[in-house]
Amino acid sequence: MEPLALLDGVEQPLADARMAVLDEGVTRGDGAFESVGIWSGRPFRLDQHLARLAGSLAALDLEPPDLPLLTAEAGHLLRGVGDEDGLLRIFLTASGTRLVYVAPQPVRPQTRVLVPQPAPWVRPLGTYGPAGAKSMSYAANMAATRAAQRAGGDDALLCSLEGDVLEGPTFAVMWVVGDALRMAPLELGIVDSVSRRAALEQAAEAGLRIEQGRFPLGSLTEASEVLICSAARDLVAVEQVGDVRLPASSPVGDLLHKALDAVRRQPGA
Ligand SMILES: Cc1ncc(COP(=O)(O)O)c(C=O)c1O
Repeated sequence: MEPLALLDGVEQPLADARMAVLDEGVTRGDGAFESVGIWSGRPFRLDQHLARLAGSLAALDLEPPDLPLLTAEAGHLLRGVGDEDGLLRIFLTASGTRLVYVAPQPVRPQTRVLVPQPAPWVRPLGTYGPAGAKSMSYAANMAATRAAQRAGGDDALLCSLEGDVLEGPTFAVMWVVGDALRMAPLELGIVDSVSRRAALEQAAEAGLRIEQGRFPLGSLTEASEVLICSAARDLVAVEQVGDVRLPASSPVGDLLHKALDAVRRQPGA
């Protein structure tokens, strides 16, 4: 797949696309974005991603997006994708710049070890405007990833100021305790993950109990599996969180991995 962009509606190879250096998206990370998984040539739940984008912009007190225009631009770029897997990304900045592009999914090493990191910038919904928004200011998340890697892990497990488990810097986190699938609730200010929503539908169908709540980091010792997912990566089980090593087999992770992959590739899902 050729990485292809529409920058303010002008089609160009992604490698040639340039945002002005003084764009507020560049100088302040002021804007919102979405990353949509493309599976077998189709964007998975584009409507949910666009709704989340609108929510992020509203939370940041920015102009609402032109959803029909974004849908049309995404459709235009997707026509060149064939039946490949890929990534569709949308950026809307405070300067009014609009970038939509398609590219192959990033190739990343498997995430095996998560290292807990404090995330004091993730605060409960209602405590401040941007809570839960997918803003373009991701430096704090990326710094948490780097800190986790410096500590010998692959990525971070973000925890709230109060010590509760939240999410990853770029992925949702769930874990298995008995017949329950546990996770942080959206009220804690985490990103409303589209892949997590889809995985929860599959988990409920498989008879798992869904438990959303404030779970302290220490309670992860009860987990038999810790799972991560995001729009453009498979749902996988990690092997270790901090000092806690997890069992080698991950039956719930395997089941949800297959179920999510199937629903993503199902026409019209
Ligand atoms: C902080 C954060 N949490 C969770 C997710 C997972 O969301 P999704 O499944 O919609 O990709 C992402 C990915 O965008 C993220 O950046």
